[in-house]
Amino acid sequence: MKSFVAESDSQKRALAFAKTYADEFDKVLKTGRSAVFVGKPGTGKTHLSAGIGLRIMHRDNRTVLFSSVLRAVRRVKESWRRDSAETESQAIAALVFPDLLILDEVGQQFGSDTEKLILFDVLNERYEKRKPTLLLANVPLDDYLKNPSDKEKSPGLKSFLGERIIDRLREDGGEIVPFDWESMRGKL
Ligand SMILES: Nc1ncnc2c1ncn2[C@@H]1O[C@H](COP(=O)(O)OP(=O)(O)O)[C@@H](O)[C@H]1O
Ligand SMILES: [Mg+2]
Repeated sequence: MKSFVAESDSQKRALAFAKTYADEFDKVLKTGRSAVFVGKPGTGKTHLSAGIGLRIMHRDNRTVLFSSVLRAVRRVKESWRRDSAETESQAIAALVFPDLLILDEVGQQFGSDTEKLILFDVLNERYEKRKPTLLLANVPLDDYLKNPSDKEKSPGLKSFLGERIIDRLREDGGEIVPFDWESMRGKL
């Protein structure tokens, strides 16, 4: 987290959020307060969330799982195979077990109904156990035009996850942290 360069006000706010979230992780665990990082690729969402994860792992011995949505969903799907060593509940339990789950690339690719269902299952179980989740998204909250010439909008995070999940997260004090600057890749 120390390596995160914060120049603009919104970058400073994102960094402050990450610091507080990690420093007060005991409190976060009591309430299960989750958060969503929303912004274009290259804005440092993975970087900053990894910083949170590493800090609470090393300082507090917390269990943290960092996974892309794709990989998390694949693990559950693989448990459906007849020759699978893992049952579906075991695959889901592995995603529910960690003190903090960081789900990267949420809404990246078009989610099939099965994918959404799996994701919903995991988030729901974590919610019931008051376990916090950090969601990292490269798509905006609302449906959006990928290109100005597009006729149809692409699904935003609300369509992808379902508005209920976002609402619930907010009611629980969860924050949407905007990473509303351009990509930092190669700039520093
Ligand atoms: N504010 C920042 N300070 C230092 N490095 C940054 C910052 N933002 C992004 N980077 C670097 O830029 C690259 C892209 O960041 P990344 O976290 O992968 O972005 P995202 O997950 O939002 O797509 C990484 O190498 C990351 O370390
Ligand atoms: Mg990323």
